[in-house]
Amino acid sequence: MSQNFSQDLNTKATNIVWHQSSVGRDAISKLRNHKSAILWFTGLSGSGKSTLANAVNVELFKLGLASYVLDGDNIRHGLCKDLGFSDLDREENIRRIGEVAKLFLDAGIIVLTAFVSPFRNDRNKSRKLVKEGDFIEIFCAADLQICEERDTKGLYAKARAGDIKEFTGISSPYEAPEAPELNIDTGKEDLNKCVQIIINYLTHENIINLEKN
Ligand code: ADX
Repeated sequence: MSQNFSQDLNTKATNIVWHQSSVGRDAISKLRNHKSAILWFTGLSGSGKSTLANAVNVELFKLGLASYVLDGDNIRHGLCKDLGFSDLDREENIRRIGEVAKLFLDAGIIVLTAFVSPFRNDRNKSRKLVKEGDFIEIFCAADLQICEERDTKGLYAKARAGDIKEFTGISSPYEAPEAPELNIDTGKEDLNKCVQIIINYLTHENIINLEKN
């Protein structure tokens, strides 16, 4: 059953004091020769977010960098298992992921989040949690027709048959990013090329340094 989380978004806890972390992000970055960042993949189900995020993660691992993938389907097995797919539940899902991603950022890790994250406002709230440059929005722009043809999990067929309600792209909206840092046509481009676009971006932004790593 869906709960009304909008009330819970207000801080309930009182008498809490923020503790600065004893090992700062800058010190970790200096030691590891790379910065941390949030790579926020967004797109329809089946657009290739998880595939691309995991492929980039492998490249970063090969370079010896600290990185981690937070994946929508996986997170919904644990941290967000109490949430469904209503607009409000998706909002809460993305709010939690934004906060978790911020912790990874603080820990000096390049965190790759692969969530449909269909609502612009929810993504922008996560963006605003961190400094400019820390949040890199990557639009996996495969269009609905291609995602539906792929139907890797068989969910589009179920949604069309009315067996899954509020399915993104079919019976629930997807709001494409207006100004993502990267817009990648994961419907047409080859996976290796998509990985390279992201690695090039990270290099260009001085988040990673291929000469030092
Ligand atoms: S989000 O909208 O809250 O960001 P999230 O990325 O966590 O969604 O989960 C999406 C995944 O859950 C999809 O890739 C798909 O496998 C599965 N799923 C199950 N039901 C739905 C639904 N109604 N809409 C979208 N995805 C769904």
